[in-house]
Amino acid sequence: MHFRLMVAVLAALVWLRGPTGAETLVERGDYLVNGILTCGNCHTPRGPGGVFDNAKRLSGGPQVFDEPAFTVRGSNITPHKETGIGSWSAAELKRALQDGVRPNGVPLAPIMPSAYYKVFTPRDMDAVVAYLRSIPPVANAVPAPVYKTTVTGVSPPGADKPMGEADLVEPVRRGFYLATIGHCMECHTPMSGGRHDFSRLGAGGQIFPGPWGTSTARNITSHPDKGLGSWSDEDIKKAITQGIARDGSRLKPPMGYGLYARLKPDDLSAIVAYLRTVPAKE
Ligand code: HEC
Ligand code: HEC
Repeated sequence: MHFRLMVAVLAALVWLRGPTGAETLVERGDYLVNGILTCGNCHTPRGPGGVFDNAKRLSGGPQVFDEPAFTVRGSNITPHKETGIGSWSAAELKRALQDGVRPNGVPLAPIMPSAYYKVFTPRDMDAVVAYLRSIPPVANAVPAPVYKTTVTGVSPPGADKPMGEADLVEPVRRGFYLATIGHCMECHTPMSGGRHDFSRLGAGGQIFPGPWGTSTARNITSHPDKGLGSWSDEDIKKAITQGIARDGSRLKPPMGYGLYARLKPDDLSAIVAYLRTVPAKE
């Protein structure tokens, strides 16, 4: 009896994890969403001291993005029917994520980094969607967005169409993919005339105000003095996953250090390998 029960449980586990024991789509989605993608950085409520309120994970961010073109907040992206995205189909969710358009045709403000999500491999896109549809629905009504003019996001060079699984083998290419879906360059590339100046990819300079005061995105190009050129791999990894700069000082938000701490060692090494190839800029 107990033996048969055990066999049944094992069979169920094999079925859930797939015959090879590889991660399931939902596990992959969990790894991405609560890791490199830092969706919660904009979509999860926070308690005292800015700490994530994980009981209400992904049910709406506290920040108001108040810009000349729009005033928006991170939406409730749990499957709650009335206040979240519970009534959206998988295809509608993918369209919102990659094309930045809601099911009712209204475009999302480009604070939502959809332009960086065009590069998702079909499998990873499926994983993110499967994970989002698996999390507990949380009732939380987020104030409606206000749009003043239409602005659209622009994909960084080489990232305007989906990559494939085969692209994720070679470390630099995989690092480029991860840094793109992690929208590193969205924060780390300077703006010029309201747009990212991708000719200065990674040169830093954008200013982020918040409860922490202000922080300025730093130069993460391969420049030997102004960027990361003379940092060791370990120095770079420590900055990304622990928020500690090479001189030992603590780095401020909004970069999601605690979420990046979840990166698998190979993925973190791939990001560093890619950063080494970013042309040096002052
Ligand atoms: C830099 C902040 C930021 C990040 C990171 C971010 N989002 Fe968003 N997202 C927003 C904002 C702000 C909105 C609302 C935009 C608007 O109202 O026009 C939004 C809207 C959405 C919507 C539309 C929901 C609705 O009800 O209209 C979905 C779905 C979504 N985000 C999913 C995600 C997922 C999944 C991730 C991670 C892969 C993610 N977002 C990462 C800021 C962000
Ligand atoms: C939401 C904006 C944002 C995102 C996304 C972001 N960063 Fe940052 N990053 C910053 C800011 C701001 C700082 C500086 C913080 C400070 O000065 O206290 C920083 C600091 C750093 C540093 C430390 C550099 C130094 O000179 O001390 C590194 C390395 C870095 N980021 C790499 C990355 C990588 C790689 C990614 C993507 C995986 C990434 N960042 C994503 C905003 C961001």
